[in-house]
Amino acid sequence: MNVVTDRPYPTYPDGFPPELLDAFTEATGYGVLGNKPASGTQIIQELGDEHVSTGKLIVYTSADSVFQIAAHEDIVPLEELYRVCEIARSLLKPPHEVSRVIARPFVGGDGDYLRTPNRRDFSVKPPENLLLNQLRKRGVKIHAVGKIFDLYAGSGIHRKYKSKSNAQGMKVLKRVYGDETDEPALFLLNLVDFDMLWGHRNDPKGMAGDLEAFDEWLGGFLQDMRADDLLLITADHGNDPTTTSTDHSREYVPILAVRGGRTLGNDLGDRTTFADMGATLADYFGIPAPPVGTSFLDQVGGVSATVGVNEADRDRLLDAARDVLQRSYSPYSHFRVGAALMDDHGRIHTGTNVENASFGLSICAERAAVCKAVSEGAGDLFAGAVVSESRVPTPPCGACRQVLFEIAPDMPLYLAGSGSDIEMFRVRDLMPRPFATFESEGES
Ligand code: THU
Repeated sequence: MNVVTDRPYPTYPDGFPPELLDAFTEATGYGVLGNKPASGTQIIQELGDEHVSTGKLIVYTSADSVFQIAAHEDIVPLEELYRVCEIARSLLKPPHEVSRVIARPFVGGDGDYLRTPNRRDFSVKPPENLLLNQLRKRGVKIHAVGKIFDLYAGSGIHRKYKSKSNAQGMKVLKRVYGDETDEPALFLLNLVDFDMLWGHRNDPKGMAGDLEAFDEWLGGFLQDMRADDLLLITADHGNDPTTTSTDHSREYVPILAVRGGRTLGNDLGDRTTFADMGATLADYFGIPAPPVGTSFLDQVGGVSATVGVNEADRDRLLDAARDVLQRSYSPYSHFRVGAALMDDHGRIHTGTNVENASFGLSICAERAAVCKAVSEGAGDLFAGAVVSESRVPTPPCGACRQVLFEIAPDMPLYLAGSGSDIEMFRVRDLMPRPFATFESEGES
């Protein structure tokens, strides 16, 4: 999803430092048991009785960057455990910013304890450049089924749907995908049972049964897919149920990609980074390429959808263009035009047309706005709008297209007239075969 971490998240093979746990006790009022790397099912057998009698929380970690808190549901009610996890999350700042705080509730008694499905993950908040945030700004509605919402700490997500199993997740995805309208959307589903129930418990029969169920579901889903929609299937790691280890295996993961209504059968090859999927999604939605990853969209049917911005930003742009139009200087044509450009910081730069008695010297609204934006140090431009007083939306003239293309080729541009019609194009699509200077012969 377009984020490359430049330092590893901290791990604690010898347990957490005492000052950290002191701060935890101070902030939550709970003492701590355990404080070591452990198997989650074993540590509740080992320390469950002591937890029940003392009320102290079982804090443990694993090979991963996690701060896990186990508690009996009758001793520490779920909401209270989640609250304690939130406090831990807020305490765990660099250099102790673990990737996840995990609530691990359990039930049972007398040395025989069982974890419940009420686990909850409190992930570190991903940075702003997360692809999901970028897509949301572009008006793509992101629907998250099951664990996904927690994994991204809710970033960019429009709606979340509960799911406690593979079967339920598949059912929910089919339903919400079927409900969708024409607006651009992204649906994310994590089939956790492959990892949690079959991989970690070394159960190849269970794994095989669930793979068959998924395969059957997929057959139906492919039939239902709308033409040109894109489906990506992948994994973040292996978890082979036939190796002696019950932990993750790190084999290559699959990427299966298919466009609705098409069969292609291309081999995507062995790729060098996971980020290729994020790059492909960006390409698919027609937003600027992220700094990492290589899109393989051209190998799965090419041609991207075009997304704009969310409705609020679109309306701000159109309003700003309509406002500046009032200041048009157009005594010769009496044709007033307003343009507005939004930069990556959400600032809006406007321009209107300025005519001259020497007609050819007239400057269009779009070019006035581009010149202002560049002069004011706008940096990258995120979206634009052009409004005229004609009945229908007026597309920019050739000269303005050439200038817009050079400054912001991937920018979505909204066009409106005095009526209610609004059209949207990417600048690139308005300017095929733009003029560019050629390198002279002999220059490298
Ligand atoms: N105009 C614009 O502002 N933008 C365009 O892309 C096309 C034309 C203005 C220039 C002139 O003042 C008036 O519209 C009539 O051509």
